[in-house]
Amino acid sequence: MNHVIAVVNQKGGVGKTATVANLAWSLVAQGHTCLAVDLDPQGSLTISLGYDPDKLAGQTIYEGMVLPSDHPQYQALQPVLGELTGLALIPANLDLAVAELELNTQYQRELALKRALTPFHETFEFIVMDCPPTLGILAINALAAADAVLIPVGTNYLSLRGLQLLLRSIHMTQQQINPNLQILGIVGTMYDRRLAHHSDVMQELRRIFPAQGIPVFDSVIPRSVRFEEAAMTGKPVVAYAPHNPGADGYRALTKEVLTYYGCE
Ligand SMILES: Nc1ncnc2c1ncn2[C@@H]1O[C@H](COP(=O)(O)OP(=O)(O)O)[C@@H](O)[C@H]1O
Ligand SMILES: [Mg+2]
Repeated sequence: MNHVIAVVNQKGGVGKTATVANLAWSLVAQGHTCLAVDLDPQGSLTISLGYDPDKLAGQTIYEGMVLPSDHPQYQALQPVLGELTGLALIPANLDLAVAELELNTQYQRELALKRALTPFHETFEFIVMDCPPTLGILAINALAAADAVLIPVGTNYLSLRGLQLLLRSIHMTQQQINPNLQILGIVGTMYDRRLAHHSDVMQELRRIFPAQGIPVFDSVIPRSVRFEEAAMTGKPVVAYAPHNPGADGYRALTKEVLTYYGCE
C-alpha cells in the first residue's frame, strides 16, 4: 500500500519545502521509494533539488493537472530524476500559476491532482507533496489527493496564528471531498533553543493540539543557516550537511513518519 502525504501550511517560510526535500531524501536513503511533487508555481522544491524550473516546460505537474488524459503530454508525464540526489520529482514552474484559473472551469477540479498522481501509486511507496503558501485550489487538490497531512509550524508566536484556519480547511476537505484524510501531525520548525519564546511555542503546540486529536511530532527541526546553503547547492540538508542538527531533526521526523505507517 502506498502513502500520500501533503505538506501544508498557508503561511510562507515555515519550512514546507525544506520538509518535503529532507523527508523525501531521507525516505529514499532508508531504502523506500518516494516521489516528491512540487505544487508551488514558484518552484522552490524544484530549485532546491537542483533543477531550473524554466527548463522543465511541458513536464511539470501543470500538464498532469490541466491536460485531458488523452493528451500526449499528459500521457508522457514522468518524474525527473535528480542528478545530485537521485530523487524522483514532478516539478513545477510558473505555468502552474494559471492552473488555478484553468481548473475553475473543469469538472471535479479538486480531483485533478489525484488523477495525475494515480499512475505513480504503483511505482512509489511514498508520494510527498509541497504546497504553495495559500489555501487555494492547489492546496485543496493536495488535500484531496493525500491520505495524510503534515503541518510544519515555525516555532515563533506569529506562526501559531492561522493554524485554526488551516485546520478548518482540512476539516472541510475531510467532510466534503476526502473522508480518509488523516492529520499525520504538526512539526515545529526553525527552532532556536536559545530563545525562550520558541520553547514556549512548542509547549503551547503540545498543550493545545494533541487534546484536539491532532498529534505533534516529538521531533523538532532546529534553525540552521545550513538550510539556505543547502538549497543553493540543490541538495537537502540531510545530504548536504548530514551531521547538522537540522539533518538529525529530519531523520528523526522520517523515523516517526515510518512508525506512523508501521513500516520501519
Ligand atoms: N530549519 C531551518 N532553519 C533555518 N532556515 C530554514 C530552515 N528550514 C528552511 N529554512 C530556510 O528558510 C526559508 C523558508 O523555508 P521553506 O522551506 O522554503 O519554507 P516554505 O516552503 O514554508 O515557504 C528558506 O530559505 C529555507 O532555506
Ligand atoms: Mg515552499
